[in-house]
Amino acid sequence: MPIPNEGALALLDTRRTIPTFQMGEPGPSDAEIARLIAIATRVPDHGKLAPWRFVLYRGDARAALDAKLLPLWDARFPEAPAPKRQAEATRFSAVPLTIGVISTAAEHVKIPVWEQELSAGAAIMNLMLAAHALGYAAQWLTGWCCYDAEAVAILGAKSGERFAGLVAIGTPTAAPVDRPRPVYADVVTEWSA
Ligand SMILES: Cc1cc2nc3c(=O)[nH]c(=O)nc-3n(C[C@H](O)[C@H](O)[C@H](O)COP(=O)(O)O)c2cc1C
Repeated sequence: MPIPNEGALALLDTRRTIPTFQMGEPGPSDAEIARLIAIATRVPDHGKLAPWRFVLYRGDARAALDAKLLPLWDARFPEAPAPKRQAEATRFSAVPLTIGVISTAAEHVKIPVWEQELSAGAAIMNLMLAAHALGYAAQWLTGWCCYDAEAVAILGAKSGERFAGLVAIGTPTAAPVDRPRPVYADVVTEWSA
């Protein structure tokens, strides 16, 4: 008989996004980041291609990154209201640590690109769960900068790579509020002949 791991189940049952405006310092230490990445890479990966990689945005580099992205944002969204611009101006510097998860999926003789991309999504989910297990708040974000070619290059992606997401991580500053979750009957059907 399988033996349930109640601690692990409780962790999975309680994981939820805590948004960036409810996170503060400190972010994970170097040792914790190494552990987060080790867990993130422990994902199913058809063909063992490791079709993902990670970029850390932290410390002083965050303000420099915001300063590089903001002029692009201004050019793209000249009509945007001031509060949106203010949020954009501190997209990275307001968060202790952001981990960019880049899908490096490419055509392969056997493994479809779709399967490689799914593995990148799984890596992010493992990262989110590991952050939760360490006691940190985490949010999976994308936004304009993950889809704008110039911004993507500034963020560190090479030609042909795509951002699966930016995972913001920090210490929770407020009790998290959950959202309604899908109902079993709405998402499950039983196949029969
Ligand atoms: C690929 C992907 C991109 C997302 N991008 C954003 C985003 O840019 N901004 C945002 O507020 N939420 C974004 N979300 C949603 C949040 O990460 C999160 O799923 C949502 O707040 C619900 O939280 P939960 O994890 O508690 O279900 C994204 C989710 C996914 C899967």
